[in-house]
Amino acid sequence: MAPTDFNDRMLSLGLARVSEAAALASATLIGRGDEKAADQAAVNAMREQLNKLDIAGVVVIGEGERDEAPMLFIGEEVGSGKGPGVDIALDPLEGTTLTAKDMPNALTVIAMGPRGSMLHAPDVYMDKLAIGPGFKTGVVTMDMSPSERVSALAAAKGCSTEDITVCVLERPRHEDMIAELRSTGAAIRLITDGDVAGVMHCAQAATTGIDMYMGSGGAPEGVLAAAALKCMGGQMFGKLLFRNDDERGRASKAGITNFDRVYTRDDMVTSDVIFAATGVTDGSLLAGIKREPGFLTAETILMRSKTGSVRRMSYRNPV
Ligand code: FBP
Repeated sequence: MAPTDFNDRMLSLGLARVSEAAALASATLIGRGDEKAADQAAVNAMREQLNKLDIAGVVVIGEGERDEAPMLFIGEEVGSGKGPGVDIALDPLEGTTLTAKDMPNALTVIAMGPRGSMLHAPDVYMDKLAIGPGFKTGVVTMDMSPSERVSALAAAKGCSTEDITVCVLERPRHEDMIAELRSTGAAIRLITDGDVAGVMHCAQAATTGIDMYMGSGGAPEGVLAAAALKCMGGQMFGKLLFRNDDERGRASKAGITNFDRVYTRDDMVTSDVIFAATGVTDGSLLAGIKREPGFLTAETILMRSKTGSVRRMSYRNPV
């Protein structure tokens, strides 16, 4: 039988269900202080729903390597096996701590593209830089210092550096970068976790108030963020960071040969993708799960890069 095409239009609604299911499953664990239980509930639900789709899917970005993640591990085959061969990048709960503490911007996230379309990023850090749509390619680059990026973006926007807001993960490793950014007069939106949302926020600067994302975070989250920006528009760059030989070994195992490469958004996600995210806790782009007697309501954003379409769906689910 000839291989089935990746019919992104038909599959996209199914993908939204997968993302919704994970968020709904974590609902009773929001604010309960148990990160592991919240993550496990989301993983189980995402996997169960994913396996209902008619795809021959392979998890490319998942919960971890096979020996450390029993479910949705990298390389796991998912779906009924009857449909097109697809790559899947997922994070059943992006922001486990945010969920456990009921802090903003926890999401469930999943992206799907044709087989071979996504960077097999190992679980190491990635230095990331992102801006939203509407700017010339290369207006900011990885070669620039943080302050040069602020100046370049302000010039491109026709505003002063004081009018730029940069989103950064609050980590000791970012102290120098934050100090340099402060010297430009730019505002810094510090987040404690959740850099997929951080990057996505750049694509809707008018709503979120964030113009640029920079700093290091998980490389798998980098690929997910690249998939989101491919649908929403915007530029993103990522460079893998290695702290030791074990991490370099993981990268080699994943097929990476050039350890110094700067990946663009389209290097990380090479073909058209579909992307779904559901709010777990309230955020700037998505409302979190709402609970009322007998019902849970989840808000999902579903996007296709081929058309640039963005759907927002509210699902009221009897429980
Ligand atoms: P989890 O959902 O796995 O807790 O990850 C959250 C996160 O904040 C990511 O968004 C980010 O890329 C990464 O952790 C940052 O890692 P670290 O906490 O080691 O700085």
